[in-house]
Amino acid sequence: MNKCQSKIGYAQIDIAFKKPEKNLEKILKIVKKYDFDLIVFPELALSGYDFKNKKELLNFSFEREDKIFDEISNICKTSSKIVVFGFSEKSDGKIFNSSLLIDENGKRYVYRKTHLFYRETILFEKGDTGFFVKDCKGIKIGMMICFDWIFPESSRSLALKGCDIIAHPSNLVLPYCQDAMITRSLENRVYSITSNRLGGEGTYHFTGKSQIVSPQGIVLNRASAHSEKIYIVEIALNLSRNKKINRYNDIFKCRRKDFYEC
Ligand code: ACM
Repeated sequence: MNKCQSKIGYAQIDIAFKKPEKNLEKILKIVKKYDFDLIVFPELALSGYDFKNKKELLNFSFEREDKIFDEISNICKTSSKIVVFGFSEKSDGKIFNSSLLIDENGKRYVYRKTHLFYRETILFEKGDTGFFVKDCKGIKIGMMICFDWIFPESSRSLALKGCDIIAHPSNLVLPYCQDAMITRSLENRVYSITSNRLGGEGTYHFTGKSQIVSPQGIVLNRASAHSEKIYIVEIALNLSRNKKINRYNDIFKCRRKDFYEC
């Protein structure tokens, strides 16, 4: 395989509410079975979504170094895989809606959701990690979570930090994100992997249609709204490193920061 080629994918799955061991078993099965460099699972993939209050949520929250993640870390290390999934993170008496990146050495990095959606604002603390990019197996990976998409600054920040691929665990309930992410990929010339979940909890219905979009804004694959799907595709990283649209326009160099509001 060409050095610049990578296998990336999403796992669109349903998630059992308050059943972390069961959800983890499903994730582990997929991580063991499929051949990939990077795979992305949905937001809050261990716990589910619709918690009544912080006290209830705390029982299904984990620290970054919790041993519940050891088996995935070990698989990542022994088979040189990178896995991203959402989880409820407890840290210093606070709870964050977080995304865990486990790299090919089994090392763990946490991104904490910057823009909380609806009742999440009463369950979680606002994320304090900011947007960052990690180089894993030569792939520059950035994370954002679900509703972060509606703020173009999220993907722009990741792109400006050198990201090749936006890993985007989601529990989408509104119908706009998938189409909007085409623009987010196109305007930043990056790949995006939106991994959404299925099913419902309480009044929430999750909309599926997980997808991978190329730096040219091409939807390489989009799942249905109704069934679980694992999808892996081989991509070329040189596409996300070329910010030129034509010989005169480089999307970063042509920015006019003096005219933009911060
Ligand atoms: C969302 O941010 N889970 C809609």
